[in-house]
Amino acid sequence: MKKVRKAVFPVAGMGTRFLPATKASPKEMLPIVDKPLIQFAVEEAVAAGITDMVFVTGRSKRSIEDHFDKAYELESELEARGKTQMLDFVRNMIPKNINCIYIRQAEALGLGHAVLCAKPVIGDEPFAVILADDLLDGKPAVMKQMTDTYDYYRCSVLGVQDVPRADTRSYGIVDARAVADRVEQINAIVEKPKPEDAPSTLAVVGRYILTPRIFHHLENVKPGAGGEIQLTDGIASLLSEEQVLAYRYDGTRYDCGSKLGYLQATVVFGQRHPEVGAEFDAYLKSLGG
Ligand code: G1P
Repeated sequence: MKKVRKAVFPVAGMGTRFLPATKASPKEMLPIVDKPLIQFAVEEAVAAGITDMVFVTGRSKRSIEDHFDKAYELESELEARGKTQMLDFVRNMIPKNINCIYIRQAEALGLGHAVLCAKPVIGDEPFAVILADDLLDGKPAVMKQMTDTYDYYRCSVLGVQDVPRADTRSYGIVDARAVADRVEQINAIVEKPKPEDAPSTLAVVGRYILTPRIFHHLENVKPGAGGEIQLTDGIASLLSEEQVLAYRYDGTRYDCGSKLGYLQATVVFGQRHPEVGAEFDAYLKSLGG
Protein backbone atom coordinates (compact mmCIF):
# COMPACT_ATOMS: atom_id res chain seq x y z
CA MET A 1 0.00 0.00 0.00
CA LYS A 2 1.70 3.17 -1.19
CA LYS A 3 1.77 6.18 1.13
CA VAL A 4 1.97 9.79 -0.01
CA ARG A 5 5.68 10.54 0.51
CA LYS A 6 6.31 13.29 -2.03
CA ALA A 7 4.93 16.78 -2.52
CA VAL A 8 5.23 19.04 -5.54
CA PHE A 9 5.44 22.78 -5.00
CA PRO A 10 4.94 24.67 -8.27
CA VAL A 11 6.85 27.90 -7.62
CA ALA A 12 7.73 29.12 -11.10
CA GLY A 13 4.92 31.71 -11.35
CA MET A 14 5.68 35.39 -11.92
CA GLY A 15 3.72 36.81 -8.98
CA THR A 16 2.60 39.84 -10.96
CA ARG A 17 -0.10 40.70 -8.42
CA PHE A 18 2.58 41.61 -5.89
CA LEU A 19 4.77 43.81 -8.05
CA PRO A 20 7.06 45.57 -7.30
CA ALA A 21 7.77 43.28 -4.30
CA THR A 22 8.06 40.27 -6.62
CA LYS A 23 10.16 41.85 -9.34
CA ALA A 24 13.39 40.21 -8.16
CA SER A 25 12.21 37.82 -5.45
CA PRO A 26 9.63 35.03 -5.55
CA LYS A 27 6.11 35.57 -4.23
CA GLU A 28 6.51 32.33 -2.25
CA MET A 29 9.18 34.08 -0.15
CA LEU A 30 6.77 36.81 0.99
CA PRO A 31 6.65 36.48 4.78
CA ILE A 32 3.62 36.27 7.02
CA VAL A 33 5.17 38.15 9.96
CA ASP A 34 8.54 36.33 9.83
CA LYS A 35 7.91 33.08 7.97
CA PRO A 36 7.86 32.82 4.16
CA LEU A 37 4.76 31.33 2.54
CA ILE A 38 6.80 28.46 1.11
CA GLN A 39 7.90 27.46 4.61
CA PHE A 40 4.28 27.27 5.78
CA ALA A 41 3.61 25.00 2.80
CA VAL A 42 6.58 22.73 3.52
CA GLU A 43 5.64 22.50 7.21
CA GLU A 44 2.13 21.44 6.21
CA ALA A 45 3.62 18.67 4.06
CA VAL A 46 5.92 17.59 6.92
CA ALA A 47 2.88 17.42 9.23
CA ALA A 48 1.32 14.99 6.74
CA GLY A 49 4.36 12.67 6.92
CA ILE A 50 5.70 13.75 3.52
CA THR A 51 9.50 13.53 3.26
CA ASP A 52 10.40 14.50 -0.33
CA MET A 53 9.76 18.11 -1.29
CA VAL A 54 9.90 18.69 -5.03
CA PHE A 55 10.06 22.35 -6.04
CA VAL A 56 9.31 23.19 -9.64
CA THR A 57 11.14 26.48 -9.99
CA GLY A 58 11.89 29.05 -12.65
CA ARG A 59 13.92 32.21 -13.11
CA SER A 60 14.54 34.44 -10.04
CA LYS A 61 13.72 31.61 -7.62
CA ARG A 62 17.20 31.01 -6.23
CA SER A 63 16.22 32.36 -2.81
CA ILE A 64 13.83 29.40 -2.33
CA GLU A 65 16.74 26.97 -2.79
CA ASP A 66 18.90 29.06 -0.46
CA HIS A 67 16.13 29.20 2.13
CA PHE A 68 16.07 25.42 2.59
CA ASP A 69 19.86 25.04 2.32
CA LYS A 70 22.48 25.14 5.01
CA ALA A 71 23.49 28.78 5.60
CA TYR A 72 27.18 28.48 6.58
CA GLU A 73 27.95 32.19 6.83
CA LEU A 74 24.84 33.01 8.83
CA GLU A 75 25.44 30.06 11.16
CA SER A 76 29.06 30.98 11.92
CA GLU A 77 28.05 34.61 12.43
CA LEU A 78 25.32 33.62 14.91
CA GLU A 79 27.71 31.22 16.63
CA ALA A 80 30.40 33.91 16.96
CA ARG A 81 27.86 36.27 18.51
CA GLY A 82 26.62 33.60 20.91
CA LYS A 83 23.08 33.75 19.52
CA THR A 84 22.41 30.09 20.27
CA GLN A 85 18.64 30.26 20.16
CA MET A 86 18.62 31.81 16.69
CA LEU A 87 21.30 29.35 15.59
CA ASP A 88 19.19 26.40 16.73
CA PHE A 89 16.22 27.86 14.92
CA VAL A 90 18.07 28.30 11.63
CA ARG A 91 19.67 24.83 11.87
CA ASN A 92 16.45 22.99 12.62
CA MET A 93 14.08 24.77 10.28
CA ILE A 94 13.08 21.50 8.68
CA PRO A 95 13.53 17.96 10.06
CA LYS A 96 16.75 16.15 9.10
CA ASN A 97 15.01 13.40 7.14
CA ILE A 98 13.51 15.81 4.60
CA ASN A 99 14.86 15.85 1.03
CA CYS A 100 14.54 18.98 -1.08
CA ILE A 101 14.62 18.42 -4.83
CA TYR A 102 14.60 21.19 -7.44
CA ILE A 103 13.38 20.96 -10.99
CA ARG A 104 13.47 23.85 -13.38
CA GLN A 105 10.39 24.67 -15.48
CA ALA A 106 12.03 26.46 -18.39
CA GLU A 107 8.81 27.94 -19.76
CA ALA A 108 5.72 29.08 -17.85
CA LEU A 109 3.23 26.87 -19.69
CA GLY A 110 0.74 26.46 -16.84
CA LEU A 111 0.11 24.61 -13.58
CA GLY A 112 -0.52 21.28 -15.34
CA HIS A 113 2.78 21.60 -17.16
CA ALA A 114 4.58 22.46 -13.89
CA VAL A 115 3.20 19.28 -12.28
CA LEU A 116 4.21 17.25 -15.35
CA CYS A 117 7.79 18.54 -14.95
CA ALA A 118 7.92 16.61 -11.64
CA LYS A 119 7.14 13.26 -13.30
CA PRO A 120 10.77 11.98 -13.37
CA VAL A 121 11.11 12.32 -9.57
CA ILE A 122 7.59 11.23 -8.63
CA GLY A 123 7.59 7.98 -10.58
CA ASP A 124 4.78 5.52 -9.91
CA GLU A 125 3.54 6.90 -6.59
CA PRO A 126 0.65 8.99 -5.32
CA PHE A 127 1.81 12.54 -4.54
CA ALA A 128 0.64 15.86 -3.15
CA VAL A 129 0.56 19.23 -4.91
CA ILE A 130 0.67 22.30 -2.68
CA LEU A 131 0.23 25.87 -3.93
CA ALA A 132 2.06 27.99 -1.38
CA ASP A 133 0.03 31.14 -1.98
CA ASP A 134 -3.03 29.38 -0.54
CA LEU A 135 -2.15 29.47 3.16
CA LEU A 136 -4.32 26.89 4.94
CA ASP A 137 -4.58 27.06 8.68
CA GLY A 138 -6.00 23.79 10.03
CA LYS A 139 -5.64 21.44 12.99
CA PRO A 140 -4.65 18.82 12.03
CA ALA A 141 -2.83 20.36 9.05
CA VAL A 142 -5.05 20.31 5.97
CA MET A 143 -2.64 18.08 3.99
CA LYS A 144 -2.69 15.61 6.90
CA GLN A 145 -6.50 15.55 6.73
CA MET A 146 -6.16 14.85 3.00
CA THR A 147 -3.54 12.08 3.28
CA ASP A 148 -5.82 10.41 5.85
CA THR A 149 -8.64 10.66 3.31
CA TYR A 150 -6.34 9.22 0.63
CA ASP A 151 -5.28 6.34 2.90
CA TYR A 152 -8.93 5.43 3.33
CA TYR A 153 -10.23 5.81 -0.24
CA ARG A 154 -7.00 5.17 -2.25
CA CYS A 155 -7.81 7.63 -5.02
CA SER A 156 -7.06 11.26 -5.97
CA VAL A 157 -8.36 13.85 -3.49
CA LEU A 158 -8.78 17.59 -4.09
CA GLY A 159 -9.13 20.15 -1.30
CA VAL A 160 -12.31 22.20 -1.82
CA GLN A 161 -14.39 24.96 -0.27
CA ASP A 162 -17.54 26.86 -1.17
CA VAL A 163 -16.98 30.29 -2.74
CA PRO A 164 -19.41 33.09 -3.68
CA ARG A 165 -20.83 32.44 -7.16
CA ALA A 166 -19.31 35.67 -8.45
CA ASP A 167 -15.85 34.21 -7.72
CA THR A 168 -16.05 30.99 -9.75
CA ARG A 169 -13.95 32.55 -12.52
CA SER A 170 -10.91 32.42 -10.20
CA TYR A 171 -11.00 28.69 -9.47
CA GLY A 172 -11.33 25.15 -10.69
CA ILE A 173 -14.98 24.30 -9.94
CA VAL A 174 -16.30 20.79 -9.35
CA ASP A 175 -19.64 19.13 -9.88
CA ALA A 176 -19.84 16.58 -7.07
CA ARG A 177 -22.15 14.53 -4.90
CA ALA A 178 -21.66 13.86 -1.18
CA VAL A 179 -20.53 10.36 -0.20
CA ALA A 180 -19.50 10.93 3.43
CA ASP A 181 -18.90 13.70 5.91
CA ARG A 182 -16.67 16.25 4.08
CA VAL A 183 -16.16 13.86 1.14
CA GLU A 184 -17.79 14.18 -2.30
CA GLN A 185 -17.38 12.23 -5.48
CA ILE A 186 -16.50 14.45 -8.46
CA ASN A 187 -18.46 14.02 -11.70
CA ALA A 188 -16.90 16.92 -13.56
CA ILE A 189 -14.38 19.70 -13.06
CA VAL A 190 -13.92 22.90 -15.05
CA GLU A 191 -11.26 25.62 -14.87
CA LYS A 192 -12.38 29.17 -14.08
CA PRO A 193 -15.97 29.08 -15.39
CA LYS A 194 -18.06 32.25 -15.61
CA PRO A 195 -20.54 32.41 -12.70
CA GLU A 196 -23.45 31.68 -15.06
CA ASP A 197 -21.71 28.57 -16.46
CA ALA A 198 -20.31 27.16 -13.19
CA PRO A 199 -21.70 23.70 -12.33
CA SER A 200 -21.60 24.61 -8.60
CA THR A 201 -19.78 26.94 -6.24
CA LEU A 202 -17.47 24.25 -4.86
CA ALA A 203 -13.95 25.47 -5.63
CA VAL A 204 -10.62 23.66 -5.66
CA VAL A 205 -8.07 25.29 -3.35
CA GLY A 206 -4.34 24.77 -3.79
CA ARG A 207 -4.19 21.26 -2.30
CA TYR A 208 -4.26 18.06 -4.32
CA ILE A 209 -3.37 14.41 -3.85
CA LEU A 210 -3.03 12.76 -7.23
CA THR A 211 -2.37 9.25 -8.45
CA PRO A 212 0.55 8.92 -10.89
CA ARG A 213 -1.92 8.21 -13.69
CA ILE A 214 -2.42 12.01 -13.85
CA PHE A 215 0.86 12.28 -15.80
CA HIS A 216 -0.52 10.30 -18.71
CA HIS A 217 -3.46 12.70 -18.89
CA LEU A 218 -1.33 15.84 -18.52
CA GLU A 219 0.83 14.64 -21.41
CA ASN A 220 -2.24 14.58 -23.61
CA VAL A 221 -4.28 17.67 -22.65
CA LYS A 222 -4.32 20.68 -24.96
CA PRO A 223 -3.79 24.22 -23.68
CA GLY A 224 -6.99 25.37 -21.95
CA ALA A 225 -8.04 28.52 -20.03
CA GLY A 226 -5.55 31.34 -20.59
CA GLY A 227 -3.74 29.24 -23.23
CA GLU A 228 -2.08 27.21 -20.45
CA ILE A 229 -1.75 23.47 -19.77
CA GLN A 230 -4.21 23.31 -16.89
CA LEU A 231 -4.02 20.81 -14.03
CA THR A 232 -7.81 21.00 -13.92
CA ASP A 233 -8.03 19.71 -17.52
CA GLY A 234 -5.71 16.83 -16.65
CA ILE A 235 -7.96 15.93 -13.71
CA ALA A 236 -11.06 16.18 -15.93
CA SER A 237 -9.42 13.67 -18.26
CA LEU A 238 -8.35 11.43 -15.32
CA LEU A 239 -12.03 11.23 -14.31
CA SER A 240 -12.69 9.09 -17.39
CA GLU A 241 -10.80 6.21 -15.79
CA GLU A 242 -10.43 6.85 -12.04
CA GLN A 243 -12.54 8.09 -9.16
CA VAL A 244 -11.54 11.56 -7.89
CA LEU A 245 -12.83 12.90 -4.58
CA ALA A 246 -13.38 16.42 -3.30
CA TYR A 247 -12.54 16.94 0.36
CA ARG A 248 -14.08 19.86 2.28
CA TYR A 249 -11.12 20.58 4.52
CA ASP A 250 -11.48 21.72 8.12
CA GLY A 251 -9.60 25.01 8.50
CA THR A 252 -9.26 28.59 7.32
CA ARG A 253 -7.84 29.62 3.96
CA TYR A 254 -5.97 32.83 3.34
CA ASP A 255 -5.59 33.61 -0.35
CA CYS A 256 -2.10 35.06 -0.10
CA GLY A 257 -2.00 35.42 -3.88
CA SER A 258 -4.24 38.46 -3.31
CA LYS A 259 -3.28 41.55 -1.35
CA LEU A 260 -6.38 41.37 0.84
CA GLY A 261 -5.87 37.71 1.79
CA TYR A 262 -2.21 38.40 2.46
CA LEU A 263 -3.08 41.28 4.79
CA GLN A 264 -5.71 39.18 6.58
CA ALA A 265 -3.18 36.39 7.18
CA THR A 266 -0.63 38.91 8.41
CA VAL A 267 -3.09 40.31 10.97
CA VAL A 268 -4.24 36.90 12.25
CA PHE A 269 -0.74 35.40 12.47
CA GLY A 270 0.57 38.68 13.89
CA GLN A 271 -1.98 38.55 16.74
CA ARG A 272 -0.90 34.97 17.47
CA HIS A 273 2.82 35.57 17.27
CA PRO A 274 4.63 34.54 20.51
CA GLU A 275 6.93 37.56 20.46
CA VAL A 276 4.77 40.45 19.28
CA GLY A 277 1.21 39.06 19.38
CA ALA A 278 -0.01 40.68 22.61
CA GLU A 279 1.38 44.10 21.74
CA PHE A 280 0.11 43.92 18.16
CA ASP A 281 -3.35 42.95 19.38
CA ALA A 282 -3.36 45.91 21.79
CA TYR A 283 -2.28 48.15 18.90
CA LEU A 284 -5.13 46.91 16.70
CA LYS A 285 -7.60 47.55 19.52
CA SER A 286 -6.20 51.05 19.97
CA LEU A 287 -7.07 51.72 16.33
CA GLY A 288 -10.67 50.95 17.27
CA GLY A 289 -11.12 48.68 14.23
C1 G1P B 1 -5.01 27.47 -9.65
C2 G1P B 1 -5.81 26.37 -10.32
C3 G1P B 1 -7.29 26.47 -9.92
C4 G1P B 1 -7.41 26.47 -8.41
C5 G1P B 1 -6.56 27.59 -7.79
C6 G1P B 1 -6.55 27.50 -6.28
O1 G1P B 1 -5.40 28.71 -10.22
O2 G1P B 1 -5.65 26.45 -11.72
O3 G1P B 1 -8.00 25.39 -10.47
O4 G1P B 1 -8.77 26.62 -8.04
O5 G1P B 1 -5.20 27.49 -8.24
O6 G1P B 1 -5.86 28.57 -5.70
P1 G1P B 1 -4.52 30.07 -10.05
O7 G1P B 1 -4.91 30.64 -8.71
O8 G1P B 1 -3.08 29.66 -10.11
O9 G1P B 1 -4.95 30.94 -11.18
